[in-house]
Amino acid sequence: MRILAIETSCDETGIALLEASGGLKAPKFKIIKNLVSSQIKIHRPFGGVVPNLAKREHLKNLPILFKKLQPKTRSIKADLVAVTVGPGLEPALWTGVNFAKEIRKNLFSKTKLIGANHLEGHLYSFLLSENYKLKTKNLFPAIHLLVSGGHTILVLMKSLTEWRKIGETRDDAVGEAFDKVARMLGLSYPGGPELEKLALRQRTGKPSIEFPRPMINSNNYDFSFSGLKTSVLYYLRDHKEADKVNVAASFQKAAIDVLVSKTARATREFGARSIMLSGGVAANKALRRELKAASSGLKADFFAAAKKFNTDNAAIIAVAGYIQSLRKKNRTIRAQANLNL
Ligand code: KG4
Ligand code: ZN
Repeated sequence: MRILAIETSCDETGIALLEASGGLKAPKFKIIKNLVSSQIKIHRPFGGVVPNLAKREHLKNLPILFKKLQPKTRSIKADLVAVTVGPGLEPALWTGVNFAKEIRKNLFSKTKLIGANHLEGHLYSFLLSENYKLKTKNLFPAIHLLVSGGHTILVLMKSLTEWRKIGETRDDAVGEAFDKVARMLGLSYPGGPELEKLALRQRTGKPSIEFPRPMINSNNYDFSFSGLKTSVLYYLRDHKEADKVNVAASFQKAAIDVLVSKTARATREFGARSIMLSGGVAANKALRRELKAASSGLKADFFAAAKKFNTDNAAIIAVAGYIQSLRKKNRTIRAQANLNL
């Protein structure tokens, strides 16, 4: 099955064409094209994503990427068109939804149009990881940590289609905390990757500031990152000469400690065979390293797709669209800014 997918939930315009096979038992994907056009430079002067600018850029970029996908558009063959309907920024989501409807009408009139959940895209991104291609048996139960700019969710997956949320953040998402702390440190948007780069400059010694690890020992799988963010703010206020590299590294360590500790605890409690990691923050090398080490200590397999499939892209939307079409489920094709997992 050939799937054309469109993603415009935030500040990346994505179009992808994938070949999918294997069904729900052993889904496999071959990426024909995965095109992403980033708007980072446009939003940087504003320190964050400006919804109407995002909309304007998506409107401009969608036809350009679509043309790049196949110079002679009429020769593209697709058995399914999948588009992100939410969650995300409403004006941005609409651009993708309307574009998908239009190309479906004009070019793929007999093709099914699927409204995909962006969070399911992240959740299924492990299907694009290198080690999943080698091992498809005995993956479940799995504990899945989904960490992005808008979400921090711990999911217990019993199978590819049966899962439930066991915890989530009560305030800021971890990516949001990275972005806000980066801003306090004078780093440019998007802060997460910049903060990681700064923390990497600490070659000697260890992160030495003891920031709090909120809810690390709480009797549930929820998270909270706003207190951690505030303690960095107070630290910087009280230490005008603070070593920013140490602050970045210490903040990153505190956030990762909480994420890894709770994921490991859930893995033990539910006897999980695998640990999975996804979402934009999964691009963070220190988090990947620590969670992978915890997995091997727990004798669980670790799955995380490459960085390019963790930050927003349309390949993961094609994967979610495929799984959804096999489940014969669909949702209304309209922007749903607050859609949840
Ligand atoms: O999944 P994503 O691309 O968009 C959403 O669906 O939210 O995630 C974006 C988030 C941003 O908060 C960004 O700062 C964070 O992921 N991020 C990182 C890194 N790369 C992206 N955070 C920490 N370290 C990174 N290397
Ligand atoms: Zn995302």
